[in-house]
Amino acid sequence: ADVPLILGIETSCDETGAGLVRDGVLLGDALASSMDEHARFGGVVPEIAARAHLEALPQIVRAAVDRAGVGFGDIDAVAVTAGPGLATAVQVGLAAGKAYALSLGVPLYGVHHLAGHAAVDVLEHGPLPGRCVALIVSGGHTSLLVLDDLVRDPIVHLGDTVDDAAGEAFDKVARLLGLPYPGGPAIDRTARDGDPAAITFPRPLTSARDDPYGFSFSGLKTAVARWVEQHRGAVPVADVAASFQEAVADTLSRKAVAACREHRSATLLMVGGVAANSRVRSLMAQRCAAAGIELRVPSPRLCTDNGAMIAAVGDLLLRAGLPPSTLGLGMRPTVT
Ligand code: KG4
Ligand code: ZN
Repeated sequence: ADVPLILGIETSCDETGAGLVRDGVLLGDALASSMDEHARFGGVVPEIAARAHLEALPQIVRAAVDRAGVGFGDIDAVAVTAGPGLATAVQVGLAAGKAYALSLGVPLYGVHHLAGHAAVDVLEHGPLPGRCVALIVSGGHTSLLVLDDLVRDPIVHLGDTVDDAAGEAFDKVARLLGLPYPGGPAIDRTARDGDPAAITFPRPLTSARDDPYGFSFSGLKTAVARWVEQHRGAVPVADVAASFQEAVADTLSRKAVAACREHRSATLLMVGGVAANSRVRSLMAQRCAAAGIELRVPSPRLCTDNGAMIAAVGDLLLRAGLPPSTLGLGMRPTVT
């Protein structure tokens, strides 16, 4: 075929992902997760994640190729996450990416993981405008970025969390309230029966002039913990869940809209597990509409770590005619 076919590989955290993209279209993908193996340690253990990638990758890549209805010989380039991520986990993907590229005799592209989170939206909603602001909110990330040309210009970090990621805060508050893991969906459900104005929890860093786009969720979690402690025996779980969720939604949407305004972006891209939250979505949509900003959110399946997002970036890089990486590609935070 004249239009190149890209194999994307993602191994930066606990998801092993592979996806095949051709001309902005996702043909097939496959995913495995080592999440369950980390649960008893209370967080992702890099060595366990790396070993799980090593075991899962060959089958995951084959499954993606089969689902796409192509053969290995049809692949024109390999794209692989080069960082940021857990070092040992990224290394497994890099080694595999190099091996596939070398054995297939095709170019290799090192991809920035966060560029992948943004680029995946192209697969569902078409090309991105020249400039957009991206809010990446998951269990591992809380970042506000400005993206111009996704393949040529560097990603500008406006702000990141200084402590917990937003999803982590949902998980920790859920545990505090006796709700099941993962906490986000549980809080979302419970909050439906609660009053979001019942308790005014803090909106951390919303007036921090030196870090206007920074986030801090550990203080908010502590505030909820203190409130629960003080009302022991008579905790209105639904009200606490709704009030906490409101504080998160308010903070995220205020900062994201302010970032779009300051950086003259008519588009906000929101991705990550927390983007599935009903109140985060509705408040973000409401505030974006009021500010004349187009809100783009990929479907939940593509919002979280996967191989398709890496193939999506590889596809953009290749079609833009950018030079591939060499086999000396190491873990690096840049796009090419
Ligand atoms: O992007 P993701 O699936 O995985 C990684 O972080 O790698 O994000 C998972 C996070 C979890 O913390 C989970 O509690 C949160 O996203 N989450 C939600 C919702 N669904 C998932 N948080 C709030 N509301 C939800 N509906
Ligand atoms: Zn990610």
